[in-house]
Amino acid sequence: MRKTITIAPSILSADFRNLERQIKLVERGDADWIHLDVMDGHFVPNLTFGPMIVKAIRRLTNLPLDTHLMISNPEMYIEDFQRAGSDRLIVHIETCVHLHRTIQRIKKLGMSTGVTLNPSTPAVSLKEILPYIDLVLVMTVNPGFGGQQFIRSMIKKIREVSEMISKVNPKIYLEVDGGVEESNAAELVRAGATVLVAGHSIFSKKNIPQAIRRLRTAAFR
Ligand code: DX5
Ligand code: ZN
Repeated sequence: MRKTITIAPSILSADFRNLERQIKLVERGDADWIHLDVMDGHFVPNLTFGPMIVKAIRRLTNLPLDTHLMISNPEMYIEDFQRAGSDRLIVHIETCVHLHRTIQRIKKLGMSTGVTLNPSTPAVSLKEILPYIDLVLVMTVNPGFGGQQFIRSMIKKIREVSEMISKVNPKIYLEVDGGVEESNAAELVRAGATVLVAGHSIFSKKNIPQAIRRLRTAAFR
């Protein structure tokens, strides 16, 4: 049987003049989750949005909100994002001194947990936290901006993380984020990715639902 793949459009590249319409188009394309990129201008050199916009998006859709926190001290905002309606909080391993504690607090509030790694952070740094989380996100660009070029050497890291996951807890999602498009989707899935985040390659297209369906088809080519 063909393995299923989860598609999570990143609204970072959406047209914010009419988010409601953009989200309806994503739903029409049968996207599985919506990926929300929260940036603080400190951990990454860009600013986006916080819980207020997450709350507004929560009112527009029932799709799971996959919330990627590119912020320093993420533990300060866990309750805010839970109240805003995030289904999952993904924290950067580089921002968490007490990662295990942060993960426990996210879980305790009923949210799903994810840990992500910058391109220069090695896969082995996940070893101790893997038994406690629901998702690993391998960044395939340096976080901060949409529309960047995919870093090819990350394929090897995806393979490595995939092997670690299959040994510890095969139920963990392996998500990839940055420069994902039709031309590399199949290679990413073969390396072990089970969730594809895509911003530019979906929202830059005229037909957004079709772009999502094409990405899903391309993942198995
Ligand atoms: C990058 C963000 C990504 C970004 C991906 O810092 O974490 O989620 O939106 O965008 P694309 O698919 O355009 O590379
Ligand atoms: Zn992201």
